[in-house]
Amino acid sequence: MTRIVCIANQKGGVGKTTTAGNLAVGTAKSGNQSLLVDLDPQCNSTTAFGVSPGEAHPLVQQQPLHESIVQTTNKRLDLLPGSRSFNDTSQLEQSDLMSVHDHLEGGVSSYDFVFIDCPPSLGRLTEAALTASTEVLMPIQCEYFAMEGLTQMIQVIRRVMREESNSLEFGGILLTMYDPALQLTHEVDEEVRDFFGDIVFDTVIPRDVAVSEAPSHGLAAIDYAPRSVGARAYIELCMEVLDRE
Ligand SMILES: Nc1ncnc2c1ncn2[C@@H]1O[C@H](COP(=O)(O)OP(=O)(O)OP(=O)(O)O)[C@@H](O)[C@H]1O
Ligand SMILES: [Mg+2]
Repeated sequence: MTRIVCIANQKGGVGKTTTAGNLAVGTAKSGNQSLLVDLDPQCNSTTAFGVSPGEAHPLVQQQPLHESIVQTTNKRLDLLPGSRSFNDTSQLEQSDLMSVHDHLEGGVSSYDFVFIDCPPSLGRLTEAALTASTEVLMPIQCEYFAMEGLTQMIQVIRRVMREESNSLEFGGILLTMYDPALQLTHEVDEEVRDFFGDIVFDTVIPRDVAVSEAPSHGLAAIDYAPRSVGARAYIELCMEVLDRE
């Protein structure tokens, strides 16, 4: 069965796009057929792979996905580009989120993994992504406001989970921009693990300049600087994600 992993956090700049891209590349490199879906109107996952955003989002507009899916330089990784169209978001206000679920499910059965990069909001796009996914992975940045707003995010996740015919599960919480030299990092680490328990990944993603440089070369960190600490952490995370099946 296809694992559809929604990468979501309403907070901006916590590493959603970076995590989605590296997991997509990492799972593909380990022999899986993977698809990265860019659902963020910022289209960072799209341009990071050197692809141009589309006119409208095929997932929202119910267009056949195969017509829009593009291949990447990684043999087993495909990309469903994002769209900057404002119509998409307003259209979603009216349409039934379950139809997005059905549309995605129907178009991705040949993949082992689908990773959905969400916008930094709790709006309809994120809700649609959650509804369409089998699991949600939430990156949390190790900073003072890390836990702020998480309650609302979790409320939305729980609401989607309660809906009948929904198979969404908690895929995990990921600590990003981890800096062991900072006391604050350890405080956030402890607080998050106390609160969420086992669903927090053992792997943490360190702050690493190689990770932030990679997109400007059209690559994920795993491909750009495979020996860097950031890339190694993402490879380790891939193994944890694969193990959690
Ligand atoms: N481990 C890391 N070390 C250093 N820089 C990082 C790391 N992870 C992400 N970054 C950088 O931090 C910035 C934010 O990361 P990213 O775009 O992945 O976050 P995001 O949650 O997708 O943001 P948005 O909410 O705007 O979509 C980017 O410039 C990215 O390159
Ligand atoms: Mg992003």
